[in-house]
Amino acid sequence: DDALSRALAAFRAGEPVLVHDFDDREGETDIVYPAGAVGPADVARLRNDAGGLVCVALSDAVSDALDLPFLDDVIDHPTAVDHQLAYDDRSSFSLPVNHRDTFTGITDEDRALTISELSTAAERALAGDYGADDFAAEFRSPGHVNLLRGAPELLADRQGHTELGLALAAAVDRPPAVVVCEMLDDETGEARSPAAARDYARRNDLVYVEGEDVVERLG
Ligand code: 5RP
Ligand code: ZN
Ligand code: CA
Repeated sequence: DDALSRALAAFRAGEPVLVHDFDDREGETDIVYPAGAVGPADVARLRNDAGGLVCVALSDAVSDALDLPFLDDVIDHPTAVDHQLAYDDRSSFSLPVNHRDTFTGITDEDRALTISELSTAAERALAGDYGADDFAAEFRSPGHVNLLRGAPELLADRQGHTELGLALAAAVDRPPAVVVCEMLDDETGEARSPAAARDYARRNDLVYVEGEDVVERLG
């Protein structure tokens, strides 16, 4: 089977997939999981083996239902006035949150709880019986899991890991809640190279896929 079919099968089964965006974009490989499949051991993998920022991407429809803003629209400080990125038109950052049943919010158990309950919240929001007030009763902000807002038309609008991950979820009927975390190189601190990310995938029996293939097949 080709890499994308194997990636979809893995994602459907709740396994992580490695997604490289594009050499002319971030040039990063993220470990991507369906949020509903994440437990404490998976958070440990993300912080030990990926090392970047742990984020959960939610679709535009879910973000609307939960009244989740783009962070750069609501930060009332001069740092957010000219929020320019070298590699895209806009950041997908929304609020950072914790589930209210967490203590500090950062432990593997706490983040796993926040992440997996975000998947349930997304599912319920899509079903129409869960809104901003329900979300606020269950989650608080600031917190230790960064939410990302997917573009409305996903890959047709934007081709970040936010949309690449949400496109994988949509293709296998997983809720539109996806964890992404950048793989960094332990020695240099730079983005892990595609060759090194592929090697990690091989050693751990995971699938590595190019953003280009995701766009071609799911865009
Ligand atoms: C948050 C990020 C990551 O690159 C993440 O992949 C989401 O961003 P994007 O959709 O722009 O790729 O910066 O840690
Ligand atoms: Zn990214
Ligand atoms: Ca990044």
